[in-house]
Amino acid sequence: MTQERQTELDDLLAEARKVAENSYSPYSHFKVGAALLLAGGEIITGTNVENTSYGMTICAERAALVQAISRFGPRIRVRAVAVTNLNHAASPPCGGCRQVLAEFTDAEAPVVFPASDGVRVMAFADLMPLATEMKLK
Ligand code: THU
Repeated sequence: MTQERQTELDDLLAEARKVAENSYSPYSHFKVGAALLLAGGEIITGTNVENTSYGMTICAERAALVQAISRFGPRIRVRAVAVTNLNHAASPPCGGCRQVLAEFTDAEAPVVFPASDGVRVMAFADLMPLATEMKLK
């Protein structure tokens, strides 16, 4: 990876860490932050928002994506993703978030996240192979 790319991902992770401070997670106490680098160079962040009805919880990645589309419209492209947490734990994006990100994220976009063996960077397509795509005409 080029130094420039590494710096870009480091900055993205720093933004993810910052927004994780805003996490609303009174049930799990797991504070997650996500940052998306958009094709236009913008960085959009999101954190997890839990609910007493557990299933209504919104993950950090989806919170960020919804924010990005709300601000810039449905044609955004995600060029890189960073996810982290303040609990010193592994937090790869969950399966549901991978599915939702798939509609807007480039196959080769790097995804950086803490894994059980340290910080990992994986291409989005390696995290989400054979993404479901419905072509409704
Ligand atoms: N969580 C995320 O924000 N992103 C993920 O990819 C996985 C899990 C949140 C949801 C819940 O608030 C807490 O982490 C514990 O699962």
